[in-house]
Amino acid sequence: MLLEKLKPEIKTIIIDVNKPVNERLFRICELLEASVLHYNWVGFYFKNGDKEELKLETYVGEHTDHTIIPFGKGICGQVALSNENFVVPDVSAQDNYIACSIAVKAEIVIPVFVNGENVGQIDVDSNTPDPFTEADERFLEFVCQQVATIL
Ligand code: SME
Repeated sequence: MLLEKLKPEIKTIIIDVNKPVNERLFRICELLEASVLHYNWVGFYFKNGDKEELKLETYVGEHTDHTIIPFGKGICGQVALSNENFVVPDVSAQDNYIACSIAVKAEIVIPVFVNGENVGQIDVDSNTPDPFTEADERFLEFVCQQVATIL
């Protein structure tokens, strides 16, 4: 399936040591947004130093003003505290949600762990209602594990 085919491409980007880490992260966002039809916004947030907040590192998709997200706020901020995947089939059903674009119908956020510590996350928005399956979760966990190796 498509997601399996993307894994070697992710690895190729990760091991490209001649490029700075943020450029490799951007290339992963580009690859995912361009390759998977139901991935319409793809970005990486990381813990902002010692602060209890997330900072947007890089993304592909519509412009967002939400470059800083306090822990606990929105889907992203909740994942910063829960350390667990968060799959949202319908964003309009969420009380604690930060809207970036009215086009977005669903969201998935998967944490990135380095030495067991939740250091950030990949955030994917979809303009398709309820598009995410277990396959997306497993694939994005793979992406996060790969990313953890270069942080
Ligand atoms: N929707 C997210 C905010 C980030 S944007 O999707 C880019 C949230 O509720 O945390």
